[in-house]
Formats: sequence, structure tokens, C-alpha cells
Amino acid sequence: MPQQPGSPDPFAPFSVEMTARIRPCREEDLPTLEWFGLFESHRELIRSTFEQHRENQGAMLVADVNGVASGQAWLDFSRREEEAVAVLWAVRVFPSLQNLGIGARLVAAAEQVCRESGCVEVEITVRHDNPSARRFYTRLGYRPYEDMPQSGHWVMRKALLALAPRSRS
Ligand SMILES: CC(C)(COP(=O)(O)OP(=O)(O)OC[C@H]1O[C@@H](n2cnc3c(N)ncnc32)[C@H](O)[C@@H]1OP(=O)(O)O)[C@@H](O)C(=O)NCCC(=O)NCCS
Repeated sequence: MPQQPGSPDPFAPFSVEMTARIRPCREEDLPTLEWFGLFESHRELIRSTFEQHRENQGAMLVADVNGVASGQAWLDFSRREEEAVAVLWAVRVFPSLQNLGIGARLVAAAEQVCRESGCVEVEITVRHDNPSARRFYTRLGYRPYEDMPQSGHWVMRKALLALAPRSRS
């Protein structure tokens, strides 16, 4: 195809700028979390988890990229009273935005929410057939806690550092 002299090749690779921000999930994010139909069967689960989040029995964080919820991390506080453990689950980043550091930021933000909610440890379940997720959590300080061969999962845990006292200034 002839190209206008002096104009850049429109097929040449180019970089795009994006702004990402971790924030609590909002009701209007819920349809986006179905990922264009891939998680449509999770609609009820997404809704009930959102209700837990509203009642402070859990938390849903999203990675907002240019205004779109493109990653998520959910927390379940149902074991907070007995063990001060929060369960981190449904951590995922939209495939085309993986390997940019968004997942690590989501997990760090989830850990901060756990500390503020009175938990001292975070637990995550990783499938045996997902070694890259295991590597990801190991890099973030999670350690094997239990192997569950029957269900094909590892349980990993991380002890959280105490919150620094707030500065008086
Ligand atoms: C696991 C998952 C959430 C990680 O999210 P992510 O945004 O890709 O995570 P990060 O970018 O922070 O880190 C992932 C990798 O990118 C690398 N990375 C981090 N920041 C980077 C950057 N700025 N540039 C290039 N690479 C980077 C890390 O070294 C890491 O590599 P590793 O595989 O050796 O650990 C994501 O891969 C995912 O959604 N997977 C599918 C769902 C899933 O398996 N969830 C976990 C269930 S337990």
C-alpha cells in the first residue's frame, strides 16, 4: 500500500501511555469483572462478594486502567475473628496487561487493607498446575503452608508486618 511521503508507518510498533490505579470496587465495575463473557457464570458470585465488601466482611479491589477495571483482588474476612487471617482470592489481571507490575500492586494494596482490617496474616490458594502464580506469590513473600494433593492446591501464607504508627505531624 503506498504511504504518504514523510508520514510515519502506521504498522510500525508504538508505545502507549496508561495510568493505572488500585481502588475499591464500585457497583458499576461489576459487569466489567465478567471479562466480556469469560466469567459470566460467576455473576452471582461477583455480586455476593460485592455485598460482603459493602458489609466489610471482605474487600474487592480493582486495578483501574484508564477508567476500566482491568485487574482484581478479593479478600474474605470470614476467618478474621478466630485466626486474624484474611483469605486473598480471585487475583487476576486482564491478559494483555499482565507482566507490567499491576498484579504485584494489587497484592500489596490487598495486604494493606488486611492490616487495616485487623488481620496479621494472608492466605492464598494456588493450583498445582499454575506454577507461574506460585512463583509470583513466592516473589511477593508468600511461603508454602500446606499441600492439598487431593484438590491439587497449595496453600501459601504471608505474615504481615504491623502497621507503622501514624505520624503526629
Ligand atoms: C498471577 C497474575 C495475577 C500476576 O499479575 P501480573 O500483573 O502479570 O503481575 P506482575 O506484572 O506484578 O508480575 C508478574 C511477572 O511480571 C514480572 N514483572 C513485574 N513487573 C514488571 C515490569 N514492570 N516489567 C516487566 N515485567 C515485570 C515479574 O517479574 C513477574 O514475573 P514472574 O512470572 O517471574 O513472577 C496474572 O498473571 C494473572 O492474572 N494470571 C491469571 C490468573 C491467575 O493465575 N491468578 C492467580 C490465581 S492464585
